[in-house]
Amino acid sequence: MDSGKQLTGTLAIAVFTAALGSLQYGYSLGVINAPQKVIEKHYGHSLGVWSERTTVLSENSTEDEELPEAGQHPAVVMYWSLSVAIFSIGGMLSSFLVGFVGDLKGRVKGMLMINFLAVVAGLLMGLCKMWKPHIMVISGRAVMGFYCGLTSGLVPMYIGEIAPKAYRGALGTLHQLAIVTGILISQVIGLDFILGNDGMWPLLLGLSGAPAVLQTILLPLCPESPRYLYIVLGKEQEARNSKNTLSQTNTNFTLPLQQLIVALMMHFSQQFSGINAIFYYSTSIFARAGVGQPVYATIGMGAINTVFTMVSVALVDKTGRRTLILAGLGGMCFCAVAMTVGLRFQNDYSWMSYVSMSAIFLFVSFFEIGPGPIPWFIVAELFSQGPRPAAIALAGCCNWTSNFIIGMTFPYIQGLLDVYVFILFAGLLLCFTVFTYLRVPETKGKTFEEIAAVFQKGKKKLAEAPKDHAELEQLKTSTDA
Ligand code: GLC
Repeated sequence: MDSGKQLTGTLAIAVFTAALGSLQYGYSLGVINAPQKVIEKHYGHSLGVWSERTTVLSENSTEDEELPEAGQHPAVVMYWSLSVAIFSIGGMLSSFLVGFVGDLKGRVKGMLMINFLAVVAGLLMGLCKMWKPHIMVISGRAVMGFYCGLTSGLVPMYIGEIAPKAYRGALGTLHQLAIVTGILISQVIGLDFILGNDGMWPLLLGLSGAPAVLQTILLPLCPESPRYLYIVLGKEQEARNSKNTLSQTNTNFTLPLQQLIVALMMHFSQQFSGINAIFYYSTSIFARAGVGQPVYATIGMGAINTVFTMVSVALVDKTGRRTLILAGLGGMCFCAVAMTVGLRFQNDYSWMSYVSMSAIFLFVSFFEIGPGPIPWFIVAELFSQGPRPAAIALAGCCNWTSNFIIGMTFPYIQGLLDVYVFILFAGLLLCFTVFTYLRVPETKGKTFEEIAAVFQKGKKKLAEAPKDHAELEQLKTSTDA
């Protein structure tokens, strides 16, 4: 049997190891939400704006009493916002370097090298009580963001290059599955009776560096991407030993414009779908929709998120990328309208809060079947070996920048549009659905040349490149690309 069509043990270890980087990204995304109040209090202490007396007063206060909260002090607000935002700034800066790091010594060594950043970040946050916690946490979050900007590009690039064609979608989706698992783990262990409390919160933040330690131990067991070895380094024998077929011999670095537009639009739609408006502000959105225990609703949402990403893993190589993205974006558009109706009429009809709640849960479910996972790995599919790292860097930067813009502006937009805020996302989602319908081709089951040929209007181009094709056929060893 063609070994390239099998999921071998080495492949499983390689994908699992790489995905530890994605787990770390998800954990870092989610970890900052639950312990906000506790951390603000410690910032207040260290800045000298929160005394033991106010702590005692606050703990003994009744709901009617107006007491100062650490989080209301302008200095604390400023340092807290910076702790949240600096993560995205780190990611925006480093995502540009993905191509450079991936090509410097290879994908595996690249992932290995950057792990020291994650460990340093984890230590800065874990040991933050030893010095000024606000400075330590902000530095740790900046370094962690820088690490995550790199890992969010290197992981899909590596997985895309080692995956056999038949499983490229499912294995590519594991990047997102690890992200959502990381988000869920951080939400659960961030509960106040686990680690989200006065004594343990530095450990909660510091643990974000833990997967890097495990990944560092496992990476030496992972084979280098054969495409990198052969095409970038020209080591044919090593590429053959990596038990994957070479399907791409194009070393041209120019970025094809059409593919680039599709790649950037996919990442733009992922972020401007409004998913992170829900994730970052879920607790207040749930409270607004009339939910009594918003923290648990947020965890429920994290669980649904994980389940539907698994659905995507199961479907993506059967149903195809295009169909899942179209269904996902269309479904999210419908849910955004339903959320608006629910929020608008919840004061008139009490059952309307169920409409908003269900719409929120369905919104994240639709996101995870397509628009969440697919943009991360489809960029690796859309580009040939030469321009791939640069394309992944640009798409990653677009993702991080859009994420940052949504995170910073959503509270203001919400203030402006009030219950109609999701109509804005419904409009955008409609445009993204139309764009996908008109411009995004199906990449399922196609080799990288076949995908490129779709953009070059048919297979004619493929036939016009006999040299590359013959070379490819000759190099088809035991596996299928
Ligand atoms: C995707 C997005 C990320 C989002 C996550 C939610 O990975 O890139 O911004 O938070 O999905 O599941």
